[in-house]
Amino acid sequence: MSVKIVFIGCGGIANAHMERLAKISDVKFVGMCDIEKEKSEKAARIYGGQVFTDYKKMLKEIEVDACYICIPPFTHKDQEITCIEKNIPFFIEKPVHLDLKKAKKIAEKIKEKKIITSVGYVLRYFDIVDKAKEILKNEEIGLVRGTYWGEVPGGGYGWTHKKEMSGGQLIEQATHTVDMMRYFLGEIEQVFAYKFEGINNKIYQGYNSEDASTTLIKFTNGIIGNISCTWLLRGFSSSVEVIGKDIILTYQGNTITIEKGNKKETYISNLDPMLEEDKAFISSIIKKDPSMIKSDYIDALKTFEVTIRANESMKKGKVINI
Ligand SMILES: NC(=O)c1ccc[n+]([C@@H]2O[C@H](COP(=O)([O-])OP(=O)(O)OC[C@H]3O[C@@H](n4cnc5c(N)ncnc54)[C@H](O)[C@@H]3O)[C@@H](O)[C@H]2O)c1
Repeated sequence: MSVKIVFIGCGGIANAHMERLAKISDVKFVGMCDIEKEKSEKAARIYGGQVFTDYKKMLKEIEVDACYICIPPFTHKDQEITCIEKNIPFFIEKPVHLDLKKAKKIAEKIKEKKIITSVGYVLRYFDIVDKAKEILKNEEIGLVRGTYWGEVPGGGYGWTHKKEMSGGQLIEQATHTVDMMRYFLGEIEQVFAYKFEGINNKIYQGYNSEDASTTLIKFTNGIIGNISCTWLLRGFSSSVEVIGKDIILTYQGNTITIEKGNKKETYISNLDPMLEEDKAFISSIIKKDPSMIKSDYIDALKTFEVTIRANESMKKGKVINI
């Protein structure tokens, strides 16, 4: 079977997926849609497919087996609902939305129609992440610390640092770290967050996100933790440190380190997690079996809720129950 794929959004991350999908033999690109026509034209020239600037027209006019939705957070309108109504499985990039109520409605419809979905929490596809989960199962964990530190994205141009467009750093970027914390340790029931602002907005035009935030987290199983984020630095670093009785497990990029007693072990992954993520989605469509998908819409919604509730806490200065 060849899986007929269309793209809504042909920007940065869409091209990263196209590059991987082109390596999977069962994939055929049939439609490329971007509101900036030159982007859909370029993608179609490289990978194939008809060119569109209107996703509704594309989903109406061509026969599609699966849709990749790779658009900025503020542009989610009814791309997902259109796919669901047409029974089209979809892959969607994180964060799934900026509006929790609308995202919950989408999730309800997905459940009703049993649509296969996959969300771009790509780190889950590192083999070492499964190894870390396996190790943690047998440990008594009490504390977790997440970090997501880096520079203002895109050199201060574009939509990422505008809060109403991206949701801010926690929703747009550190969502990967929050998702990893959930993936390792389970569901989160309470958050309380502080923000710091006032430096980057003097440097970058239109910057209205916080410069830094720190969020306290309580899990339903009693584990406590925090995540600190900042766009005040250069470069990028992100990590999750899980602390238990006589153990620290550190996850960072493609590496996990386990310090237990006086032993220290390091595991490095050589996988391309995005290729694994795309293979899992394509394979789930061919086999009509979503079990290999590690983050579907219903699950990703929970990560989104944690980050949007943390934003609410920053604003209200209150503890928020999830
Ligand atoms: N999983 C990851 O590691 C990862 C990495 C980067 C980005 N992302 C996510 O992917 C999403 C897109 O990010 P990006 O970096 O590709 O952004 P981008 O700005 O490079 O590309 C987005 C594209 O979507 C197009 N677009 C906007 N509205 C549209 C619409 N209604 N119909 C068709 N096209 C439309 C824009 O013209 C643009 O070309 C974001 O949510 C981002 O968080 C995920």
